[in-house]
Amino acid sequence: MLLQENYPLRKLNTFGMNASARWFTEANSMEDLHELFGDSRTEQRHAMILGGGSNILFTKNYDGLVIKNNLLGIEKIREDDQHYYIKSGAGEVWHAFVLHCIANNYAGIENLSLIPGSVGAGPMQNIGAYGVELKDVFHELEAFHTGEKTIRKFSHADCRFGYRESVFKRELKDQYVITSVTFRLSKTPKLNTSYGAIEKELEQMGVTEPGIASVSRAVIHIRSSKLPDPAQIGNAGSFFKNPVIGAAEHERLKKEFPEIVSYKNSDTDFKLAAGWLIEQCGWKGFRQGDAGVHKDQALVLVNYGNAKGEEIYALSQRVLDSVKAKFGVLLEREVNIV
Ligand code: EPU
Repeated sequence: MLLQENYPLRKLNTFGMNASARWFTEANSMEDLHELFGDSRTEQRHAMILGGGSNILFTKNYDGLVIKNNLLGIEKIREDDQHYYIKSGAGEVWHAFVLHCIANNYAGIENLSLIPGSVGAGPMQNIGAYGVELKDVFHELEAFHTGEKTIRKFSHADCRFGYRESVFKRELKDQYVITSVTFRLSKTPKLNTSYGAIEKELEQMGVTEPGIASVSRAVIHIRSSKLPDPAQIGNAGSFFKNPVIGAAEHERLKKEFPEIVSYKNSDTDFKLAAGWLIEQCGWKGFRQGDAGVHKDQALVLVNYGNAKGEEIYALSQRVLDSVKAKFGVLLEREVNIV
């Protein structure tokens, strides 16, 4: 296949980092994947699969082969009394897929509107927002093993989903290319408006009988009001995960910081709002050069134009250190660093 050399990646990552790839190509079909990984040079060239580029920070040029996953196509593969099973190519744009589902009355995915990125990247980190995670609507996926050059089906259990986690970020990292994802969507919507902001937004919109389309619109409004649009200001959504801590530590923090924002995560642990911790350390709206912390959401680091990846990374380290010093809590980065 034709490889392009020294290929600019700026338009292919939502942080807008001005990095380049030593080699670049697109996989538009299964045949392309077979051809690419059938060639021993691909492995030697440290192939990296790129989806929508919305969860990645390039801190340097990539001295290897970047393969853009461009496997497209959406089809309804079956239905039963209650569900539609919708299969999407991994390269489809996530939000376009969500809109397709809403237009066809396939329910369950509406809360995940406007998340940047591709369908194939969704299961990698079990994307989630406003009370719904991808795992709640996931049926199965297909992935190409780059060493064996075989296709394997992964069930829900095989993916070992966790909070922004899956087997593809852990045990099977860099072994598979996700090629398609099948979702199990409902014929009768069970709206999830438990996230306070959605109900408030629907009320403001004057919606008295919400449906999947109005919930999607509400989510789009909320996201647009809080999160910077990557087309305007480079970013990769939440830079850190919300930390999960045990009950004893939660008790200690609550005593010292009664205002701390936390949620019960399970019988034994709590999730802290990392945005609150970061804001308390005085970072919200901080800017140095073109690297900054978003003015409306402290969990989001931003590139105002020409920030270097190293600058964003160094800022993330300062944020991490200060949260550790003030609260004794260690934040974990959600964004993949290259
Ligand atoms: N908060 C602050 N200051 C801030 C930001 C947040 O005090 O600067 C507090 C507020 O009390 C707020 C609470 O934190 O009520 C939660 O904030 P928000 O609703 O914005 O959600 P989040 O916990 O910061 C998570 C996800 C987002 C997802 C939203 C909505 C993670 C790492 N992030 O953010 O996902 O959109 O919930 O469900 O879990 C992403 O992963 O890239 C992402 C954007």
